[in-house]
Amino acid sequence: MTTKLFIRRVTIAVMVALLCLSASLAQSQQPQFVPNYDESKVGDYKLPDPLMMASGTRVASARQWRERRQEILRLYETHVYGRTPAAAKAAKATFTETSRDAKALGGLATRKEVTVYLTGKQDGPKMSVLFYIPNQRNQPAPVFIGLNFNGNQAISSDPGISLASSWLRDGKETGAANNRATEKSRGTESSRWPVEMIVKRGYAVATIYNGDLFPDHKDGLRESVIPHFYRSGQTSPDADEWNALGAWAWGLSRAVDAIEKDKDLDAKRIALLGHSRLGKGALWAGAQDERFALVISNESGEGGAALARRNYGETVERINTSFPHWFNANFKKYNKDVASLPVDQHMLLALMAPRPLYVASAEGDQWADPRGEFLSAKAADPVYRLLRTDGLGATEMPGLHQPVTTTIGHHIRAGKHDVTNYDWEQFMNFADKHLRR
Ligand code: GCU
Repeated sequence: MTTKLFIRRVTIAVMVALLCLSASLAQSQQPQFVPNYDESKVGDYKLPDPLMMASGTRVASARQWRERRQEILRLYETHVYGRTPAAAKAAKATFTETSRDAKALGGLATRKEVTVYLTGKQDGPKMSVLFYIPNQRNQPAPVFIGLNFNGNQAISSDPGISLASSWLRDGKETGAANNRATEKSRGTESSRWPVEMIVKRGYAVATIYNGDLFPDHKDGLRESVIPHFYRSGQTSPDADEWNALGAWAWGLSRAVDAIEKDKDLDAKRIALLGHSRLGKGALWAGAQDERFALVISNESGEGGAALARRNYGETVERINTSFPHWFNANFKKYNKDVASLPVDQHMLLALMAPRPLYVASAEGDQWADPRGEFLSAKAADPVYRLLRTDGLGATEMPGLHQPVTTTIGHHIRAGKHDVTNYDWEQFMNFADKHLRR
């Protein structure tokens, strides 16, 4: 090596080391986030009134509520989840059945996969909807639908499910390699999807991988559906436009389009559920699309069912920092000032009214603020009552394992952040009661 080359190499090495050092210094200077878990330190807050029109008129009738509902939807679009662009709303998806097994789960169900071409074009963005439909039935089956975290093949070890084709986080939990699903990716999420138990109770299961719509990472936008709907010349979403949660919610509605065309399924009895970030997406989908007859939030927490103004567990600033790709750009303006947010999450819950809504929490998931989820449901109750339902049948937060099954349902169970068979049993009891034919 010549001296000149040696000096050049040493200089580059020193520069790289300095850059790394300054980056890690900058990081360590950022104050560490310490969540509050002390009820006495939650602080005072005042919730916006869901029944007060922007004009100052009080909502006193179901008809007025329809108007107020539009106002609230616009507020969520503008300040929180982002507006779905008109081009995406206008897109006409097409549907192709790509696989079918009439004897799945030992003959209990028909498994099928439907590819949804989201812009109607085969070379455009697409998502795959996986269905299990009970074989034993004398009418179209009611459906539980939800997004999954790790690809459709993750919800069951059934080898007939196609592996997800879009980006998947590498790791033991996903079984992915080079960001693609492998055989090891089968069944990794199956404890959260007791397919057999659901089918045996007469419900069909429909699920979609959220990564087909928006890969869940900071740079997921590029590979998401969003750029397909840019105006000419547009290179990123406007500050009030959609992001990952908006794309996930939009995809759920496209699955409803597919269900409406399927004579084996009852599109009037669709129960939408989502866990955690997918619970936030489910609530946003249920708010925008009233074809979801029943909506279930499982531990959706901050940006989902939990009140944002309560300083407990995760905060608006924290979620926007860790997951900048979930909400729209405008939402970041409230990082240090949630009191000025024109909505709080009880208003999102109220957008489900008068449809049955279930809010589930877990004691071991304080990050999601179970009490904040309950209080949010309680603050949505006046809207449900105005619409002549029985609202939430509890004024105090119930203890563990005491499900409430009024039109706003609720439970808190022991254990950690997860979806368990206990949760599913309550969801199906709730659906049995409210989606009965
Ligand atoms: C993180 C995030 C939560 C989210 C959760 C999940 O914990 O902070 O907001 O609900 O992930 O999706 O599991």
